[in-house]
Amino acid sequence: MGRQVTVLVGAQWGDEGKGKVIDILTRDVQYVVRYQGGNNAGHTVVIGENKYVLHLIPSGILHEGKICVIGHGVVVDPKALINEIEILKQQGIQTAGRLKISDKAHIIFPYHKRIDELRESKRKKGKIGTTKKGIGPCYGDKVSRIGIRMGELYDPDFFRTRLEDNIEEKNPMLKEGGFEEFDAKSIYREYLEYADLLKEYICDTTKLLNEALERGDSILFEGAQGTYLDVDYGTYPYVTSSNSTAGGACTGGGVGPSRIDRVVGVVKAYTTRVGEGPFPTEFGEDLMDRIREKGGEFGATTGRARRCGWFDSVLVRQSVAINGIDQVAITKIDVLDELESIKICTGYRYKGKIYNNIPGDPNFLEECEPVYEEHPGWKEDTSEKTSYADLPENARKYLARIEELIGTDIMLVSVGKSRKQTFSYK
Ligand code: GDP
Ligand code: IMO
Ligand code: MG
Repeated sequence: MGRQVTVLVGAQWGDEGKGKVIDILTRDVQYVVRYQGGNNAGHTVVIGENKYVLHLIPSGILHEGKICVIGHGVVVDPKALINEIEILKQQGIQTAGRLKISDKAHIIFPYHKRIDELRESKRKKGKIGTTKKGIGPCYGDKVSRIGIRMGELYDPDFFRTRLEDNIEEKNPMLKEGGFEEFDAKSIYREYLEYADLLKEYICDTTKLLNEALERGDSILFEGAQGTYLDVDYGTYPYVTSSNSTAGGACTGGGVGPSRIDRVVGVVKAYTTRVGEGPFPTEFGEDLMDRIREKGGEFGATTGRARRCGWFDSVLVRQSVAINGIDQVAITKIDVLDELESIKICTGYRYKGKIYNNIPGDPNFLEECEPVYEEHPGWKEDTSEKTSYADLPENARKYLARIEELIGTDIMLVSVGKSRKQTFSYK
């Protein structure tokens, strides 16, 4: 790779194929680090006949000998993590000695999941369509300074007092919402057992990573979700509760901004979104079913059908700016193989004016009408192509146009789920 620190982010609404691209880039690094989000993520990697779906553990775990870090910006559901470690073990992947968890990562408790559910069920309008994994309420406690961190499980007196305070605060709200209340004692006992099982993995990951950099080792930061799910840059309030953009690697990963050498954006050749929120280029019914079926667009975490639409170059160009993306990996070209013609959104029409950016008006993305240019399809199977030169001419033209519109170089092209269905651009 020749660069010590790479941050990889999703440039759209998540599920761009980050897991696959991480798997390819992991070959060249010693460390792979998750820096935000939690088990709301679902990163799929296909190796030969085997499919792995990673939720909390960095996708790098599938490469023997690589160290995988869950940084302090991640929110950890210990039960889900232990389950993921177990599933990996059954698939022949060992985590012992290779998985490191920050002692400062905040913990998801059962009351976070229930509050997530409660909030969604009580919203009259504007449901977010969360994964119900407790992500928002856990980050809420973190910034309210009442959260509990992984390292604090090993100070039982502190842990018990904090937990009791939290449960005392949350129970009345749950009761009022018609939900069952929680008992601090039983959660305390349950989480001390998790603490025991996870003890070998907990450490100061900031120190670990900075020492690695001093030694000259390379790090790949694995973003979860995508740019437009970022709590600051995304389509608020239809977002997740963390900074999924590249800056999150510094605040949640443990290295300073001057250490980052490159930012890679993963982009799907069309657009998808799970959950609620604006989506200007969303397909009508016919194309929706066709592309969803062909692209296997069902959530890796919740199994929900993903909403699908045309490629939106305005969104991705803005994503390039927000993240400082240097290079793009483009996935799922093969999903478009059968289309007669393919549209790219190049701007929006709103209240009689044409925009090629997204202004601050909160109704803009809900109400705007996309402006498209139309390209002829290639009507040829690309899934067995092994180089850029092999691609049909119209596919090459489509990629070149995307590159031009987003103002960034494409580094990698993906035409299928497997490792070998990947090649470098030009
Ligand atoms: P992530 O969350 O960004 O890691 O993406 P997901 O794993 O949730 O969703 C991407 C899905 O597309 C997975 O099922 C991948 O196996 C699959 N995938 C990745 N790249 C390609 C590709 O180039 N073509 C096809 N057909 N599928 C792909
Ligand atoms: P990966 O890493 C796609 C979406 C949810 C919902 C919103 C808030 O696999 O790309 P949350 O549970 O985080 O509070 O839900 O964010 N969402 C994702 N959508 N890919 C993901 O992760 C997502 N993680 C959260 O559907 O709309
Ligand atoms: Mg996913």
